[in-house]
Amino acid sequence: MATTDKLNICLATAEFAPLAKTGGLADVSAALSAYLHSEGHDVRVLMPFYSQIRRENLDIQPVNNLQNLTIKVGPWDIEYSIDIAILPANGLPIFLLRCPALYDRPGIYSSETDEHLRFIVLSRAAIEMCQRMNFAPDIFHCNDWHTALIPLFLRTIYSWDNLFAGTRSVMTIHNIGYQGVFGSHIVGDLSLYGGEHFLHQDDLAQGRINFLKSGILLADVLTTVSPTYAREIQSPEYGMGLDGYLRGRSDTLFGILNGVDYDEWNPETDALIPQTFSSSDFSGKIACKLELMRELGLAGGADQPIIGFVSRLVGQKGIDLMVSVLPRLLAQRNFSLSLLGSGEPHFELFFQSLQRAARKRVGFYRGYNNKLAHWIEAGSDMFMMPSAYEPCGLNQLYSLKYGTIPIVRETGGLADSVRQVNRAAATGTGVLFRDYDEAGFHWAISRALDLYEDQPLWRKIMANGMAMDFSWQKQGALYVKLYRSLSGS
Ligand code: ADP
Ligand code: GLC
Repeated sequence: MATTDKLNICLATAEFAPLAKTGGLADVSAALSAYLHSEGHDVRVLMPFYSQIRRENLDIQPVNNLQNLTIKVGPWDIEYSIDIAILPANGLPIFLLRCPALYDRPGIYSSETDEHLRFIVLSRAAIEMCQRMNFAPDIFHCNDWHTALIPLFLRTIYSWDNLFAGTRSVMTIHNIGYQGVFGSHIVGDLSLYGGEHFLHQDDLAQGRINFLKSGILLADVLTTVSPTYAREIQSPEYGMGLDGYLRGRSDTLFGILNGVDYDEWNPETDALIPQTFSSSDFSGKIACKLELMRELGLAGGADQPIIGFVSRLVGQKGIDLMVSVLPRLLAQRNFSLSLLGSGEPHFELFFQSLQRAARKRVGFYRGYNNKLAHWIEAGSDMFMMPSAYEPCGLNQLYSLKYGTIPIVRETGGLADSVRQVNRAAATGTGVLFRDYDEAGFHWAISRALDLYEDQPLWRKIMANGMAMDFSWQKQGALYVKLYRSLSGS
């Protein structure tokens, strides 16, 4: 541990909001590091300098000692430099790994044959950056499969370096559905030179290397993004083949619920929405709702119930339940939908056809649009997340803050953040259903629509949710406590 009580942390991530984001990993990397920085810890974040990163409003400077470097990865000599940008919003320094050969691609992720190299290089550059800056991290914080090889590299390629003698690794599983599995032909690209025995030998024999599994086996501590998900992934139903390894590490696996960056997501200050509002005056929310309806071409007035949805359109998010339930429900009940997302083509086609069938009641924007995401949170009455699994989920946390009642499946972070409404006591913050089936989802939407008809009760539920605090001040402190428990060990 450092001599002062401030920690040295190196955090490596594939996504960081707002620079490069496909989902919640970006929000969490950004907000957790901002929190750590604000608490005075020396946090050095490394992420790829993707060509999509918008350079306007960013003062990007080359880091002196970190220019025109070469890293030998298997047979490849990969050239890179590291630049730095100080984020204007909070003064947090971000280190950007500039390597056009690897990161000038149409998207953040690719399905090209060198995908593994892109993240091997990120992981190794994070370690070599510390070496060149003579920065001894108390904690190396890895996130998801992309940086899950860092514990392996610390034990092999860099084990000679005393700089890391006191370093402990923390690996956060944001989503076990993405493991980074590659054919074992890439083993040479790991440059382990004799350290291959650290790899999972049965996997190797069967011709594959699983990056996330390596992190699960070798990181000093594992975390995931909610207490319920920490339990769930130890079961075959949710573990996606890794549950046995996670059960084996249950004493070093912790669930810490994500927080919300209330500087970005707060209806009282949100500069992206048509009008701000608070729980003491909902007039701004009504204005947001009418603007959202106009924007999406939805019919009706302020009393028309609107259910929102903003998501990557992938199986995890429960869209197949929507496919079987929403057309029927639209015929049975009066409500409208505000939908935003992109992803698997068959899901995009489903929302497009739903919209074609009921243009005045279904607004769907295909694509990624941060402003519209804020509008939907602010202007909808309810927000649906019928996820098959949900490690944490951020949109239900945003919804609670915006007085938009979450309708969620009782799983992962959804179960940990939404409380079932009790009508008689006027307690609770949303509607939860347990089983992943049509009947459960149908029941939950119908129940929310019934509750909506009792407006005094509805407003009480809105206020209950808006009063909840999922700030990083609280959640980030749990990470610091964990880091400290490790760095003393
Ligand atoms: P996941 O990480 O599984 O995608 P989360 O709920 O943790 O799910 O985080 C999703 C984040 O991505 C939220 O901030 C959400 O608003 C944002 N998001 C997802 N899809 C879109 C989209 N199409 N446009 C704008 N923001 C989106
Ligand atoms: C993941 C999960 C989501 C979580 C996010 C950030 O992609 O699907 O539930 O909120 O990571 O941790």
